[in-house]
Amino acid sequence: MSGEERGARDPEDRHVAGAPTPEPTPADTDQATSAAPTPAHADQDTSAAPTPAERHVPVMLDRVVALLAPALQHPGAVLVDATLGLGGHSEAFLRTCPQARLVGLDRDPEALRLAGERLAPYAERITLVHAVYDELPQVLADLDIPAIDGILFDLGVSSMQLDEADRGFAYAQDAPLDMRMDSTAPTTAADILNSYSAADLARILFQYGEEKFARRIADRIVKARETKPFTNSARLSELVRDAIPQAARRTGGHPAKRTFQALRIEVNGELDVLRRALPAALAALALHGRIVVMSYHSLEDRIAKQTLAAATKTDVPDDLPVIPAGHEPYLKLLTRGAERPTEEELAENPRSASVRVRAAERVREKGLVA
Ligand SMILES: C[S@@+](CC[C@H](N)C(=O)[O-])C[C@H]1O[C@@H](n2cnc3c(N)ncnc32)[C@H](O)[C@@H]1O
Repeated sequence: MSGEERGARDPEDRHVAGAPTPEPTPADTDQATSAAPTPAHADQDTSAAPTPAERHVPVMLDRVVALLAPALQHPGAVLVDATLGLGGHSEAFLRTCPQARLVGLDRDPEALRLAGERLAPYAERITLVHAVYDELPQVLADLDIPAIDGILFDLGVSSMQLDEADRGFAYAQDAPLDMRMDSTAPTTAADILNSYSAADLARILFQYGEEKFARRIADRIVKARETKPFTNSARLSELVRDAIPQAARRTGGHPAKRTFQALRIEVNGELDVLRRALPAALAALALHGRIVVMSYHSLEDRIAKQTLAAATKTDVPDDLPVIPAGHEPYLKLLTRGAERPTEEELAENPRSASVRVRAAERVREKGLVA
């Protein structure tokens, strides 16, 4: 990471101007040393670290570009990528919208570092910021940007985060129970497992994981931690599997999937942050500005659907024959229901399987969004 990037919530330190020029960390240096080929074998080396493009295939890329690009073709257009990740979507926008400037946010410093490397050719048009996306109003104020022309939310974790076993997102690999998207944040999944009451654990498993056996699992967690605190994912996976009756284990994928999803949402406060961020994003949109939200589970999608739908309704009573000027809806939906990937994309990119895409355009001038 370049020396410029620091804590997420310190406005003084938040900005990474343009693409950071990464200085190798000790870990990078080690990697580079072990991967460095001798000159004679340079062209045969296959051990180099995968590039961001290899680590995360952007989901529904062409469709997302088609939805947002019409708003980004004028000089000075501003696109916010609220979930920069490895910069796959952002790179496509920078390529196809040459007049647009990008503000890329991510709460994961490692994602920002990798995206910064990838987007270095566009350094003059990008500003990458270490922030949680509900900080958008402050980020825009700091950058003196009064309104934006497009914003993308590609929610959830990136393939890079899932693949790095030691970050603890994947239930199929034994790893420390971490699950923080921002490794500088204070609370890990282990902290939650070892400190929440059975009632609170059951609530998050039920609400965020839609887990039918939430109470059973929560009771077993509380009992098991009396012997030894939780540190690793394998022990939790095993406990969840044992807590779920055999007949129920045959459906719904890996038995621990819902518990891991719930913990991840709680660790990162994902739904509360999204509930705050979407209205803030709509309020920041310029006239004819567009928003795209890509969700990967029903809880996120419900929030996206309800927030966009609320802004497409007028605030006048249904029985008024005409809508008075100034009371027209703020938004027009650009998608009918939620769009899904094609069969072809599903076959090529399994990560796209659960995506739901919703998009809208701001059709009325500034004012408060309800
Ligand atoms: C699915 S990935 C985005 C992938 C990206 N579109 C690409 O093509 O490379 C989601 C990213 O959003 C980040 N993220 C998730 N929730 C966030 C939040 N509340 N604020 C900021 N970044 C967030 C994650 O750290 C992750 O890097």
